[in-house]
Amino acid sequence: MKFEKEILCIGAGYVGGPTMAMIAYKCTQYRVNVVDILPEKIDQWNSDDLPIYEPGLDEIVQQARGRNLFFSKDIGAGIKAADIIFVSVNTPTKTYGVGAGMAADLKYWEKTARQILDCAESPKIIVEKSTLPVKTAQAMERILNSGKNGVEFEVLSNPEFLAEGTAIADLKNPDRVLIGSQQTEGGLKARDDLVEIYANWVATDKIVTSNIWSSELSKLVANAFLAQRISSINAISSLCEETEADVGEVARAVGMDTRIGPKFLNASVGFGGSCFKKDILNLVYLCRHYGLKEEADYWEGVVRINEHQKERFVLNMLTAMFNTLAGKKICLFGFAFKANTGDTRETPALTVASRLVAENAQVVINDPKALENARQDTQDLQGDIEFIEDPYEAAEGCHAIALMTEWELYRTLDYKKIFDSMQQPAFIFDGRNIVDHDTLFEIGFNVFPIGKPKKVHF
Ligand code: NAD
Ligand code: UGA
Repeated sequence: MKFEKEILCIGAGYVGGPTMAMIAYKCTQYRVNVVDILPEKIDQWNSDDLPIYEPGLDEIVQQARGRNLFFSKDIGAGIKAADIIFVSVNTPTKTYGVGAGMAADLKYWEKTARQILDCAESPKIIVEKSTLPVKTAQAMERILNSGKNGVEFEVLSNPEFLAEGTAIADLKNPDRVLIGSQQTEGGLKARDDLVEIYANWVATDKIVTSNIWSSELSKLVANAFLAQRISSINAISSLCEETEADVGEVARAVGMDTRIGPKFLNASVGFGGSCFKKDILNLVYLCRHYGLKEEADYWEGVVRINEHQKERFVLNMLTAMFNTLAGKKICLFGFAFKANTGDTRETPALTVASRLVAENAQVVINDPKALENARQDTQDLQGDIEFIEDPYEAAEGCHAIALMTEWELYRTLDYKKIFDSMQQPAFIFDGRNIVDHDTLFEIGFNVFPIGKPKKVHF
């Protein structure tokens, strides 16, 4: 069968895999090919055991794979055949040299650009799907247009706004699709080609176009604003704990103002995930680069509060448990950075686990989808750490439970049974405010929520 377009995606990760699966699922007229530098990841995408857990993903992959969705290891052949190339490689924080700990590391992205340049024999549209510092497209265009073979490239910015755990729903029904292009004839033509793809299932009024630099910057700003809301409410959570106000009640009252809105006001042990911290630090770095010190300090504060919130959680545990955690067994309910994903990148649970181990506590980790990642993440921690799949077994004999991830499962456990199997006095530190604190207190737990009065029996 002849397809209308050949689409390639370089990078088969949390964004590349689900996004391409959705395009292939919705648009049978296009052939979608996904490649990755890791051959084992491609094998997983071709198996029944996909490399990532995302509700609804298995179903759409099963429908499209082999029909018009393919996962392959031959990156060069994929580049040659493609009309449009999405680049969805990772852009972590740089760990070396200038900008270490702040700037985005563009080595994966640049490697991809050079590979495209080496292999391409016909004109291509290159789509920045990865989150990148503003002005990256310019660097890409310079690399791509440095070739002597005369192939023409148009670079577009099309940042992804999906959240893990709801990726499929977000891709099916996005708040907006943003496409930035150069305002040249070629740039606008490429933009229209990309709009045409999304218009297969996204209403045209939700497909927003802009200049390319606005698009690149909007992605960083969107994440900074979301994270800022969490740090704002978390900063209020400590004040609530001091004053006996209830952060849930405050968030509800504040969020009912339609100018503020109710979402992203859940106080927590802190935000995690691969992007918020790195994207804010990237924004901070950009501000500093342009000499905007006050602005840089302002945004850096969002990350500082988040680090403080995680530390505060551990210090609360220490204080509550009579100023020593040494030899005490503490069960972490959840290790993923949020519910409905197995992803543990930048998870607050890792910070808490490492601090508990540093206090010579014994740590037991339970999570329905992230135990394997937890095992890998904690490899370098010197201490007593166990991984137990059954939450009842995990909590047995423990002095405390720390609720780290808002998995639905943890709302519905039999906490009386758990309490009876624990060391007394038993403690629960609810880092997500998801369990019924009154009921737990009645059962006998000493309960420490975030931003709400503690409930203790002594
Ligand atoms: P990821 O690490 O899950 O996936 C990236 C993939 O790219 C990896 O499988 C890696 O092996 C592959 N890769 C790296 N260099 C390559 C190369 N030269 N050739 C081929 N493959 C290569 O990362 P992710 O979470 O999918 O994020 C990708 C980008 O999307 C990042 O810039 C991120 O900021 C952005 N983003 C992520 C999310 C999210 O929820 N995870 C949401 C929106 C945007
Ligand atoms: C976030 C954004 O929501 C996406 O729009 C964006 O595309 C993505 O980053 C990205 O660029 O990677 P994600 O990190 O997957 O998505 O998940 P979120 O739902 O944003 O949660 C991030 C963290 O904040 C989690 O640890 C979550 O538990 C925490 N959170 C969220 C809170 O503590 N309180 C809240 O009210 C909301």
